[in-house]
Amino acid sequence: MLFFLFLCLISCKKEDEEKNVHKNLIVGFSQIGAESAWRVCHTRSMLQAANSNSIQLLYENAEQKQENQIKALRSFIAYQVDAIVFVPIVQDGWDNVLIEAKEAGIPVIVCDRKITTSDDSLFECYVGTNSLEEGRKAANFLIEKYKNTQQKINIFEMRGTDGSSAAEGRYDGFRQLLNKHDKFEIIKSESGDFLRSRGKELMHQVLKELEQENRMIDVIFSHNDSMTLGIIEALEENHIRPGKDITIITIDAEQAAIDALNMGKVNFVIECNPHLGPKVMELILDISNGVEVPKLTYIEETSFSQDIDFTKIEPRDY
Ligand code: AHR
Repeated sequence: MLFFLFLCLISCKKEDEEKNVHKNLIVGFSQIGAESAWRVCHTRSMLQAANSNSIQLLYENAEQKQENQIKALRSFIAYQVDAIVFVPIVQDGWDNVLIEAKEAGIPVIVCDRKITTSDDSLFECYVGTNSLEEGRKAANFLIEKYKNTQQKINIFEMRGTDGSSAAEGRYDGFRQLLNKHDKFEIIKSESGDFLRSRGKELMHQVLKELEQENRMIDVIFSHNDSMTLGIIEALEENHIRPGKDITIITIDAEQAAIDALNMGKVNFVIECNPHLGPKVMELILDISNGVEVPKLTYIEETSFSQDIDFTKIEPRDY
């Protein structure tokens, strides 16, 4: 009897181990590039989390081109990886390659940015930021800040990459709440492609246009910190005090943006959390163990205003 129980225990343990054992998973990861400190941190988070879960990550940098991403995905399929993770640079245009992945039986995880697809079964799940919420946070900050003001508030919005879910969510969320208040007017909205250099160049151009049109802006809503840093440079070169003459809202919460907030050059920072690696690896292990995973996972995110205690903020790693 005792011997029988012993055999039973051994076989149950073995079964458990087989279920959870690392099967030397090989995962293809298509990243869009290294356009910002945020992105670099995101890549690092993925590589580190794969390493600590003994997952072999095949990393491909698409250098901001969707065609490179599609090529990378096809090479992962040919290689018969165990799973694919990709950050879609734009929302549309993925169906064909995802059908190929599905036919090859390879689960796909969409990370950071979302896709639009005719068939949701073409990807296993999404994990990343809630861009719509980020846009709403920006709007809520302005509604509160200007609650006692009757005058018109002119806004310039610098968007991220056109067609990306990050830019579209931020755009929509911002308007969802702001449109209910007549005093706010988005007088200009242009894409700076999430790049610092473009942000600076575009800000110079917009300042010239405003001068010619004899108009002023009260607020800048910038879709990411990289562009914001460029915006600050351009404003200062035009003797405009960022954060004082113009209210500035930015997204990502890089260390440089927190420092700018502390110096009074930025008024509100909305965190976009790049530390997605551990969650992605957890989902990959679950999928490979046959565990059902949620279709949508939003990562925890916060925001920072000028009245916080800066001594309590942990140094950011991006
Ligand atoms: O998709 C997330 C956005 O992409 C981040 O806000 C930005 O910095 C990055 O380039």
